[in-house]
Amino acid sequence: MRDLSRCVHHPAVSHEGFSSLAVPTYRASTIVFPDAHSYADRRLRGPDGYSYGLHGTPTTRTLEAQLSALHRAERTVLLPSGQAAITTIFLAMLMPGDKVLIPDTAYPPVRGFCMNYLAPRGIQHAVYDPMIGTGIAALIDASTKLVWLESPGSTTMEVQDMRAITTTAHARGAATGCDNTWATPLLLKPLDHGCDFAMEALTKYVGGHSDLLLGSVSVRNLRLWQALKDVMRMLGIGVSPDEAALALRGIETMGVRLAHAGRVGMEFAQRLEAVPVVERVLHPALPNCPGHEFFLRDFAGPSGVFSVLLKPVSAAALNSALSSMKTFGIGASWGGTRSLVAPMSVKSDRVAVPWKADGAILRLSVGLEDPEDLWADLMTLFERLALDAAAQPGA
Ligand SMILES: Cc1ncc(COP(=O)(O)O)c(C=O)c1O
Repeated sequence: MRDLSRCVHHPAVSHEGFSSLAVPTYRASTIVFPDAHSYADRRLRGPDGYSYGLHGTPTTRTLEAQLSALHRAERTVLLPSGQAAITTIFLAMLMPGDKVLIPDTAYPPVRGFCMNYLAPRGIQHAVYDPMIGTGIAALIDASTKLVWLESPGSTTMEVQDMRAITTTAHARGAATGCDNTWATPLLLKPLDHGCDFAMEALTKYVGGHSDLLLGSVSVRNLRLWQALKDVMRMLGIGVSPDEAALALRGIETMGVRLAHAGRVGMEFAQRLEAVPVVERVLHPALPNCPGHEFFLRDFAGPSGVFSVLLKPVSAAALNSALSSMKTFGIGASWGGTRSLVAPMSVKSDRVAVPWKADGAILRLSVGLEDPEDLWADLMTLFERLALDAAAQPGA
């Protein structure tokens, strides 16, 4: 072999005795075959075999298998983001003339997808009260093919009666799927509660370090898995093994991160209830949270994301108080090592159950900093807001 050929043909080296604890990152577009017959027969390898990098590498398959094991699922597919995981489920289940039901508390881009992508293609959606329970029956007609859940709901944290909704939907011939990003399979396994699809934005707690974007869908029914794979093949969707490797690293520490964030978040939520400028703390583990009884029944515990509804304060005061925070970062997303705060506006999003409160909502994601530093930062924020509230006319 001459030098130029040597440059592109890597020498085979022994792997014997090399046993690493890390999952190797296998990068590939092309997968080569040992002979022409195997290449000609490559379709016989089936969807579990390797044929092209887009459809899977040992790295992505390891992450899929790990998520399947955690969800007690038969199969998992990986998508490039959480939102892509949701839209892939919808595209796999819905045809023109069909309808999907989504909760008022769904991650807002889900509604955007329904309004701006599905509706022009003849797929309808209806928005339902997340606390509807068996009342979902009244919304399901022959065209309803999918009932979507997200529990707890984005920002306002209502916990859904998953068992009632999935049982009712199935009795009426509709499939069900749940955005389980908040809980992860460590705190809730939606497939055990009747959901057909358990979806996660791995971007959050699985990745755990705010540096990757990835989504997953886990299923028990192989027909549904095939439908997801078909959409992904047609649209040319796959994920990078580098992202999967980061997620595999993140998932190893997810249990301790989640337990810590859940404990500190819960402690903060309870203490924040006594803060004068706080109108209400929105946390599934607090008894006043809508659906708290379903949280106690179904979840193994809380994660570290919850919200705080403030008494009315001026926007200028809120912006200035937020900007003075030292330990919390201001930003979207959540579930990383760094604690985050994000002002959220839900009023314009809610149509099934109008959101009546006027105060701003702050969503908090508790990370791994020293809880004392976090609490001091929160107290600085709330003290500054209290000064503004005291200066309001009529205060
Ligand atoms: C509940 C929930 N689901 C899905 C997503 C979307 O995840 P991604 O950012 O990976 O698209 C988010 C993102 O914030 C989310 O909060």
